[in-house]
Amino acid sequence: MDAETRLYGVIGKPVSGSKSPWIHNTLFEATGTNGAYLAFEIQEDQLTAALNGFRAQGAVGLSVTIPYKEAVIDWLDAVDPYAAALGAVNAVHFENGRSIGYNTDGPGLIKVLKQHDTQLADRRVLVLGAGGASRGICGALLDAGVQVVGLWNRTHERAVELAETLKDFAGSTGRIQPEPDSASFHKYDVVINTTSVGMQPNVGDTPVEISVLKPGALVCDIVYKPHETRLIREARSSGHPVVYGVEMLIEQALLAQQIWNGYTEETLAPIRKKLLEQAIAMF
Ligand code: ATR
Repeated sequence: MDAETRLYGVIGKPVSGSKSPWIHNTLFEATGTNGAYLAFEIQEDQLTAALNGFRAQGAVGLSVTIPYKEAVIDWLDAVDPYAAALGAVNAVHFENGRSIGYNTDGPGLIKVLKQHDTQLADRRVLVLGAGGASRGICGALLDAGVQVVGLWNRTHERAVELAETLKDFAGSTGRIQPEPDSASFHKYDVVINTTSVGMQPNVGDTPVEISVLKPGALVCDIVYKPHETRLIREARSSGHPVVYGVEMLIEQALLAQQIWNGYTEETLAPIRKKLLEQAIAMF
């Protein structure tokens, strides 16, 4: 770090367990970017003051995490249309004195699915969970042209409410359908767990029995700690292709870096590989 080092960071509450500083600082090192990325735990009544401070001192980029993904929108100068339709921002770019909000959570997942050669247009995708993470993922799936997004949640009314909120999402042609139980799960080509079920320390838990899924359906988990959740382990041993949570975690960060620093795919490809290898060894 020197007098030219530019500031980046994540704001949220809590942020102590965040992997973002590790991901972004590793990326700065690999690309030779003179940046420093720190974690800032911000109290609710200090959010505006904190954001003004980042802008005033010339920060370049901020990641936004729970509980501020919605609250930050009112403060921003502009919001990208996709993030605005979703009502959630997870990346802020300060550019020429203006602050612009983006959402890379859902697009990160779509990118990972494409890396796994998963066709999305006209497919049926089942999303488990109806919380904040689910919202971004459902929006991105509809945006990507998925024909039916099935939505299951432990508390069914939440799935019904989320489906209602997203039913006309950004002019999408697909539909979003609440699933009250597992009876129709076998109709889905891709299954994505967005709940916290299976996360450390509850590593023995799983959100769904593999036997109710369509044979060969792609199974994805956003949980990345442990690296291999019970869901992914059982899916893999039943012959399902799988996507690990860490892949999505890294991809949403790389998309934010593309917004902040304009890195090309060629620059990012070897870094993605290195980050994945290191994350799997570390988490
Ligand atoms: P996030 O922003 O990470 O999605 P959230 O909004 O609190 O967090 O949502 C957590 C999700 O995990 C919800 O879908 C929650 O289900 P409920 O709406 O019924 O609470 C789901 N979840 C958490 N613990 C669960 C459990 N033990 N079994 C099933 N679902 C669970």
